[in-house]
Amino acid sequence: MEVIILPDAQAVARQAAHLIAQQIHRNPASVLGLATGSTPEPMYAELIRIHREGKLDFSRVTTFNLDEYLGLSPDHPASYHRFMHEKLFDHINVSKDRIYIPDGLTADVPKYCAWYEERIRAVGGIDIQVLGIGSDGHIGFNEPTSSLASRMRNKTLTQKTIEDNKRFFAPSEKVPTEVLTMGVGTIMEARTCILMAHGARKASVIAKMVEGPLTAMVTASVMQLHPRTFVMIDEAAATQLQMADYYRFQWENKPEWEKRAFFCHADKR
Ligand code: PGA
Repeated sequence: MEVIILPDAQAVARQAAHLIAQQIHRNPASVLGLATGSTPEPMYAELIRIHREGKLDFSRVTTFNLDEYLGLSPDHPASYHRFMHEKLFDHINVSKDRIYIPDGLTADVPKYCAWYEERIRAVGGIDIQVLGIGSDGHIGFNEPTSSLASRMRNKTLTQKTIEDNKRFFAPSEKVPTEVLTMGVGTIMEARTCILMAHGARKASVIAKMVEGPLTAMVTASVMQLHPRTFVMIDEAAATQLQMADYYRFQWENKPEWEKRAFFCHADKR
């Protein structure tokens, strides 16, 4: 796990977007795992900017989203279908038939989940998985005590997540309690993961995930076992890390060839 502490959310967005752009330049038919929530929004804006400058072609890219609320139609304003189209897909040249977002209206959950996982396998697996982290430590919607080997399935949200996500729904609406989510085991098969977090609200859970014990009570802590994960956070989310100085020292002392392999300093604005 490589912890990269950056000045602010915008810097996190730029570095994460750059890593994704590099992946697509290396392999134009890359497979991306995508996340929703407020965390990845600035990164999607950055990808749109790079695309509009003519520097990023999504025409052969395939995407798989992590999760969706069960019972919400794709055109519901709080659905992750709507989120993804509004924040990214409507602004880039990704092909509609290569976009996969779990279907919240599926009539047969186990069959649908098996099909979704099969689609990921059929395209050769996920090259880069984008992740946020819930304040209860979830990745995807894998709530505390989810099996660390879980596959895609339905899951019941905790009260904490329901509270956290109320802001995306109209005041008169109930947040759905049941969701479809890639499992922790599914996420762990991605070749590279980028987990982003910003703001003081995430400082405690980031410390638990990075430096705490590996535990299903913080499903994101499983990333300690992932061979290529970048944890990109801003200063506010880094305040409870015991080893923060070491992560900064490590980044500052990284050989130039290794920095250049992932990040383009010339693109810093
Ligand atoms: P947030 O959600 O990005 O809106 O904070 C993260 C998550 O629940 O995974």
